[in-house]
Amino acid sequence: MRDRILGLDRQTPLLDGSTVTYINLDNGASTPPMMDSVEALEKFMPYYSSVHRGTGFKSRLSTRVFDETRNILAEFVKADLEKNTIIFGKNASEALNKLSHALPHGKECVVMTTRMEHHSNDLPWRDHYKVVHVDVLPDGRLDEEDFDRKLALHKKNLALVTVAGAANVTGYLQPIHRLARKVHEAGSMILIDAAQLAPHREINMLPDHHPEHLDFIALAGHKMYAPYGTGCIIGPKKVFMTCAPDYSGGGTVNVVTPDEVYWADLPDKEEAGSPNVPGAIAMAASAKALMKRTMKKIEEHEVRLTKYSLNRLKEVPGMTIYGESDPEKLDRVGVIPFNVKGIHHSLLAAILGYEGGIGVRSGCFCAHPYVVTLLGLTDEEAEAWRTDFLNGDKSKMPGMVRMSLGCYSNEEDVDRLVAMLKKIAAGDYSGEYEVVRETGEYIPKGYIEPFDEYFTF
Ligand SMILES: Cc1ncc(COP(=O)(O)O)c(C=O)c1O
Repeated sequence: MRDRILGLDRQTPLLDGSTVTYINLDNGASTPPMMDSVEALEKFMPYYSSVHRGTGFKSRLSTRVFDETRNILAEFVKADLEKNTIIFGKNASEALNKLSHALPHGKECVVMTTRMEHHSNDLPWRDHYKVVHVDVLPDGRLDEEDFDRKLALHKKNLALVTVAGAANVTGYLQPIHRLARKVHEAGSMILIDAAQLAPHREINMLPDHHPEHLDFIALAGHKMYAPYGTGCIIGPKKVFMTCAPDYSGGGTVNVVTPDEVYWADLPDKEEAGSPNVPGAIAMAASAKALMKRTMKKIEEHEVRLTKYSLNRLKEVPGMTIYGESDPEKLDRVGVIPFNVKGIHHSLLAAILGYEGGIGVRSGCFCAHPYVVTLLGLTDEEAEAWRTDFLNGDKSKMPGMVRMSLGCYSNEEDVDRLVAMLKKIAAGDYSGEYEVVRETGEYIPKGYIEPFDEYFTF
């Protein structure tokens, strides 16, 4: 895979003025582009033109290629496009918001989600539904007994159950098909937020009549090696057919009179305005490449590397790994949150970046309630940082550092991370860092980034 990822050879600057090959261990946030998506765009862009309404050859070709992207993404998750539709938006958040508008709603309708979700699979539901959160166990795993209890309690008013296929903080994989069976037995539907799952594991929605069928899937191109601004929601046509679009406008209609509107068929009704054709092409090209190299092989590689990472991280003095730290427990993807005793998470991440050339992420990863639970904060502690934060002081925000693997990550990446963590744990770093109260970031005093040497317009 390493030959097929753009920019892995790039040198980036360090605080001491030297340069080093950059290591991206922040794939959980966004993955770099895969050459397959870059090459598909290079080939396609000279022909780029308006889709659906244009009559010239380039428009006809663009329309065909754009339509073909849906077939490829359907194949990627084994969706039946006779009964389901694929609606593009700009990312997973937009996909989830779109569904929150499309389902029948009202404050008496319940959406059941979990305490380990990314905010994007929690907040959109809060506006339109009564949201019930399934608890997590002390190790951060889903409390399936609580899931069963709440499912039985709310099944009469349940509009949807929604869970992340893989958690973005701990990497836990959910038993999505088992949960789907339970949800269907309760007479409801299940959405899998697969933003974090799709780059790591094969997804199979299964036939619509199957008891373990996944009703809805949300995907994000930028986490699937196609960072060109596209995501999508995949789900039953009948759900999207019965509602007015969340955004109306060009392309969403069949007929408009001065007083009436007759909506277009799916997916056009739900994709107002000119779509992001290059984004969809990049996402489809990347999905095709992942299928060709096979998700099974990617999984095998990642399982090996996750074990390796967990074992190596434990060599760092003062290391705390959150969630599962046993390398033999396999219900997780290669996303590992940790802290090193005595060093603020944000400072640790900053030193890794400025002095190690290693990209990670720190903080709460858009999952505040889950991180607070994993850190074991008391209600008073949690309340105290929220108050500081809301008063403009983000420096006291609790959190962790997260390393997240991509399909191209290797032992060398992990070795460099661990070597750097050991140095930092021993106090062996050179920068004098100051914290910016308003952002919570640590910045080396007096350092001016040489950005212009790397990119200017
Ligand atoms: C599990 C999960 N869901 C949803 C999102 C939101 O994705 P996007 O940035 O594509 O809107 C993320 C992003 O990190 C995520 O990890």
